[in-house]
Amino acid sequence: MAPADTTQFPSYDTARKELPIYTYREELLEAIRDHQVLVVVGDTGSGKTTQLPQYVLESLPEIRKICVTQPRRIAALSAARRVAEESKTRIGTVVGYSIRFERRASPETRLLYVTDGTLLRAVESDPEVRAYDLVILDEAHERSIETDVLFGLLRRACRLRPELKIVVMSATLDIDKFSDFFGEAPVFSIPGRMYAVDIFWQKQLKLGTAKATFVRRAVDTVMHIHKNEEPGDVLVFLTGQSEIEQAIRMVQEAHDELDYVDVKYRSRVRTIALYPIFSALETLEQRAIFDPAPEGVRKVVFATNIAQTSVTIPGITYVVDSGFVKQKMYDPQTAIDALMVVPISQAAATQRAGRAGRTGIGKVFRLYSRDAFDDMDAATVPEIQRSALLGTVLALKTMGIDDILNFEFIDPPDPDLVIAATKQLFWLGAVDEHGHLTPLGKQMAAFPISPYLSRTLVSAALDFHCSYEMLVVAAMLSVEEVYAPQRSKKKQAAAEACWQHFNDPTGDHLTLLRIFTEWEATGFEKKWAFDNFLHHRALRAAKEVRGQLEDVMRTLGLPIIKAARIESRHDRKRRKRDARIAETDSGHRQSRSTDYDDYRSVDATSILRALCTAFYTNTAKKHPSRAVFYPYIAAVGAPDSYPTMTLQPPNTSSTPSSIMALCLHPQSSLADSHNGQQCDFVIYNDVQYVNRATMRVVSKVHLDWVRVLMGRLTVLDEARLTGSTSITSPTRRTERRPSLIDIATRDLDATDSQP
Ligand code: CDP
Ligand code: MG
Repeated sequence: MAPADTTQFPSYDTARKELPIYTYREELLEAIRDHQVLVVVGDTGSGKTTQLPQYVLESLPEIRKICVTQPRRIAALSAARRVAEESKTRIGTVVGYSIRFERRASPETRLLYVTDGTLLRAVESDPEVRAYDLVILDEAHERSIETDVLFGLLRRACRLRPELKIVVMSATLDIDKFSDFFGEAPVFSIPGRMYAVDIFWQKQLKLGTAKATFVRRAVDTVMHIHKNEEPGDVLVFLTGQSEIEQAIRMVQEAHDELDYVDVKYRSRVRTIALYPIFSALETLEQRAIFDPAPEGVRKVVFATNIAQTSVTIPGITYVVDSGFVKQKMYDPQTAIDALMVVPISQAAATQRAGRAGRTGIGKVFRLYSRDAFDDMDAATVPEIQRSALLGTVLALKTMGIDDILNFEFIDPPDPDLVIAATKQLFWLGAVDEHGHLTPLGKQMAAFPISPYLSRTLVSAALDFHCSYEMLVVAAMLSVEEVYAPQRSKKKQAAAEACWQHFNDPTGDHLTLLRIFTEWEATGFEKKWAFDNFLHHRALRAAKEVRGQLEDVMRTLGLPIIKAARIESRHDRKRRKRDARIAETDSGHRQSRSTDYDDYRSVDATSILRALCTAFYTNTAKKHPSRAVFYPYIAAVGAPDSYPTMTLQPPNTSSTPSSIMALCLHPQSSLADSHNGQQCDFVIYNDVQYVNRATMRVVSKVHLDWVRVLMGRLTVLDEARLTGSTSITSPTRRTERRPSLIDIATRDLDATDSQP
């Protein structure tokens, strides 16, 4: 390694020595040297993620290659950057990172921060994990699906390769499970340093009520703190990007209306600085989030769960906890994979409160009552027990693990979830009726995207001749939100008016294609994205993802074909109008391009039909008179009776009341009344549940396109499909699982019971 010019790096040597973990440096190194598997537990901020791997790097030369997993991309990236800075090296040399679609590493890289998903994919082709000498499963308490699957795979690798070392790191004390799983591996705890935290509760408030208004409540609490409390920074836990952006807008407005001169404030802080943190990478690029606010300024950070344990914001005095989190929930009864806003667990509430007591005495404002806290689950249910396991089952099958029900899971998923996922894979054509991977399934597994999207790519290439466009659609669906919400109401209105121009009459998939294509036509201009209120970073990521998916297509020998172009009546009108303008204005204006191709729309039908090959199970039928939809397949019969369902559209008047109504996302191009006319059937990418079930990324389809695919919904022998003789294993639940509808109604009940 070439020695870098050290003067360009700030020195972190003192800061590193002040971290709680530093006292245990030698003991930790000894424990790692002496044991194959070690469990390390310590408070968030004690230095596990950034320090422990560095200690190994500095002092255990026999451990050449270290891999540290994080459940979140943003955490892997920020840890790698920090450690590179601390070790005075350039990122991508000794210290690197590799997250989906983004990699900075080289052959000399010894310490690689990755997402658990990235390592999982690597282990698919390297089951003994020969690429590394030490694997650190960090943030194990998060219990992400990928980490859970890695637990099983690494235990197997440990048996195959006694020299492989594993360290499991967790922020919570509930670690016996990890230790037991690895045959009573030793546990090393790093004692924390915590100051007292005062807890303030809302009075007599059921969580269900808070749900409707938690953003408002959070905004009021922030303003209360700002006006009345001593100087100190605030961390607000909300649920997602849109709630965070809404809250920032509201606090900004409330703050603009404040008159610091007239009103008597107890607080001496007169300025407020607002920052968002959510999974979008650019939010961490503002260094100011990590720097203490200047004198007289109060920093307020609005964050998702990410700030609970993954990313440490130093110097927080006040925490505002909404009590909610956005979580993936899969309901095998309705076959809907939803993102729902649900109450957090008590363990999570404790973690959130702990963020306030790092540098001094802190205060936490819980936007819920003591009773609501008592009602919360003690710990969060692991993701693997509440998710659609489609990707997981496909990944395990790629590794030749067919008997998924008997795989060594640390907490086995409910067999119903495994069966539902395997059925879904059968419907996608990825497995046969014996649950064995088909050639199509093998191709699908080669793409680092959801099996639905990989299915559409294959059929766009082989059957519908529009893979060129589908690559863009799949890429746009694999990146973060492209629409950039605005802070002021006025600008937001301007943005929405601007976005309307992109709306495609068929719906959101083609709208996304149009946005990308128009951006591409500008030569990928940043200014264009900015002028159109779009996130340039997301668009750039989509371009990158498209390139990588294209590489996979080429490796698999799948053709990349441009869809046909056709001139619609609308196109013809535009062409004639532009020709007129060019004639009359020729002297003044630069005439528009007269390339005929500009005025022909891409053939939407082939793209939509290719999408249907995967998303046909996500078909919804519109209510004849109201602006809601019903899941079509579930409406025809409960999932268990899929095979026998009649292909008649259901008589809506007899639609069972237990079928959940699906609404269009307000951002959907079909929500625009002009566009949304006459859509009887739609397909949707996913469902998000905040107060109601909202379909995201929706396009109109013809029932005929969907109908031809329904032939695959045949009777399946579950035992044969899962390759297991023991489906009725002790883990199978006997009580009925609460469905999405149950959960939704439970919340409504809580709301209604309020006076
Ligand atoms: O993993 P754990 O929560 O135990 O701690 P860590 O992520 O290693 O962070 C240790 C300390 O490094 C934090 O308290 C932060 O002050 C600092 N840090 C930072 O300033 N910027 C980062 N990107 C990561 C860590
Ligand atoms: Mg950490």
